[in-house]
Amino acid sequence: MIEHNALEGRHPTQWQDGGMTEILTPRLLLRRWQEDDLPAMAEINADPLVMEWIGDGSVCDLEQTAEAIERWEEDWDDEGFGLFAVELLGSGELIGFAGLSVPEFLPEVLPSVEIGWRLGRQFWGQGYASEAAHAVLEFALEDRGLDRVISICRLGNDASENVMRKLGMELESETTHPAFGFPLRVHAIDLTEYA
Ligand SMILES: CC(C)(COP(=O)(O)OP(=O)(O)OC[C@H]1O[C@@H](n2cnc3c(N)ncnc32)[C@H](O)[C@@H]1OP(=O)(O)O)[C@@H](O)C(=O)NCCC(=O)NCCS
Repeated sequence: MIEHNALEGRHPTQWQDGGMTEILTPRLLLRRWQEDDLPAMAEINADPLVMEWIGDGSVCDLEQTAEAIERWEEDWDDEGFGLFAVELLGSGELIGFAGLSVPEFLPEVLPSVEIGWRLGRQFWGQGYASEAAHAVLEFALEDRGLDRVISICRLGNDASENVMRKLGMELESETTHPAFGFPLRVHAIDLTEYA
């Protein structure tokens, strides 16, 4: 259940209650993680096409996904932001995640907060990532008071880079993945550009 809260009146689609944060978009509910999200998220993480451009391209098993969800929830508690579970309104299906994280894997861009996304393959190409990402960007800049957000992708991940462009992000730098040696592209947007 969505709990109403102090943000009422300020933004009609966001609720917060004691660390609970949910965002409603026309087609999606962005929310904190629940135990029963594990099977659907594990299926997404086990798909080689979904994981093609992430890390070294390895898929994750059920146990790794369970650990990841636990970490994502800890990030919410530690940072006050994190990766939202993205649920399709109507069907209630978990379609993936969109949200904020600290890109520890790339020390040269720190301190910074990254916006990112990952959806199940059957949900691609329908504008869901852009819809979720716009809501997350607004959450980051307006509600969390961040003045800048970056997004990092591997060179060649055109789908992800297009989401960045649709958010109004601009290419800031090109670098190399410290662990895997792949070329990376870093995009950024600041509060002034966003406004
Ligand atoms: C990246 C991802 C989340 C995009 O999801 P999506 O819901 O298909 O994105 P959208 O439908 O909002 O599309 C955004 C834009 O990218 C374009 N796009 C989508 N897939 C594309 C592709 N494979 N190649 C080129 N452009 C693509 C869309 O046409 C759209 O632009 P438009 O509105 O001008 O037509 C999805 O492909 C995914 O989960 N990929 C695997 C995980 C991943 O790589 N995450 C990012 C790591 S950096």
